[in-house]
Amino acid sequence: MKTMLLCMDDVRSSLSMAAVIEAVEEGYLAFEEGKVQQPDIVSMEMPEHHGETDIKSCYNALNESVSVKIASGFYDNGKTNDLPTMIGTILLFDGRTGASVCIMDGSLITAIRTGAAGAISSKLLARKDSKTVAVFGGGGQARMQVYGLCQVMDIETIKVYSQYPHELAAYKADVEKRDWETGHPMRFCRDDDGRRRYCHIYNAVKGVFGEQQPGQTGHAYCRCRRRYGWKNEWDPQIFRGAKVVGDSIAQCVSRGEMRNAIVAKVIAEDDIYGEIGEILAGKKAGRESAEEITIFDTTGMGIQDNVTAMRVYEIAKEKGLGQWFEFL
Ligand SMILES: NC(=O)c1ccc[n+]([C@@H]2O[C@H](COP(=O)([O-])OP(=O)(O)OC[C@H]3O[C@@H](n4cnc5c(N)ncnc54)[C@H](O)[C@@H]3O)[C@@H](O)[C@H]2O)c1
Repeated sequence: MKTMLLCMDDVRSSLSMAAVIEAVEEGYLAFEEGKVQQPDIVSMEMPEHHGETDIKSCYNALNESVSVKIASGFYDNGKTNDLPTMIGTILLFDGRTGASVCIMDGSLITAIRTGAAGAISSKLLARKDSKTVAVFGGGGQARMQVYGLCQVMDIETIKVYSQYPHELAAYKADVEKRDWETGHPMRFCRDDDGRRRYCHIYNAVKGVFGEQQPGQTGHAYCRCRRRYGWKNEWDPQIFRGAKVVGDSIAQCVSRGEMRNAIVAKVIAEDDIYGEIGEILAGKKAGRESAEEITIFDTTGMGIQDNVTAMRVYEIAKEKGLGQWFEFL
């Protein structure tokens, strides 16, 4: 039997943000319906190389596949070599036989499926008339969250803050190119003092503090790390009075941004409103008023990788991309 091998360019040619949003929605629903076995994330840290590796895996009974993603953040990459900071590989297996079906670059998949998660949550939790997005940081997720949002909302203004101002020109050029189907004309402004003021939706790894404004929605996609003494990046006070939704509550409580708010006793575990799959399935309401403050905490799930990688594999097969290798 043959295994398909896909490099990053093959993966890029087999992906669109719209298709990944659809796939991740299916994945969240499958998880909600109990069709997914998703073991705990395995984490390793290499502080001497300023790096860390996570293994996210799952069995999805709906598409009968097993996926394993080995994804790393090596934060000196790009400075001492030509590698990206976020780097990874996905292995796909046939869930009926265990045979290896495909090995593909996972760097882009992690990035795009996280952007898709932000878009899905905003459809359910943000104000429908949201026009302004604030972005903290000027890296990969700062782009993907905006590309995802522009698929589902009429975003007009992006306010971006980075503590590394040199990132901003490249960021602006990339977002304006709209090469990931942003599809809307946008006004772009740098924002290094107003930060979260006057925005409807904000995306952030670091630097979020202070009180929320009524009607705002926040996307948290960082996870707490042992090397930071299990500290998160957001001020826990942000969670006060918010409707808090997670991708997987179990995962978010142990390693998401909401962990910090629970440890600081700003919220209790019982205050967490629910999981995104419950809202997608119509079991719980999403945003219920224009003033409501909402937060989506996404620690990233194996099922997101699974459904996105399966989509890539199917499209690559149709397009005749990649190479084949015989392990057996
Ligand atoms: N939850 C998920 O599923 C998921 C998926 C992808 C990435 N992530 C996480 O999101 C984060 C960003 O990923 P990325 O792909 O955008 O990485 P990236 O390296 O492309 O960008 C990181 C950005 O963080 C900013 N930054 C770095 N140090 C900072 C500091 N001390 N203070 C303020 N800003 C700082 C920089 O402006 C930089 O642009 C990482 O922590 C990664 O682990 C989570």
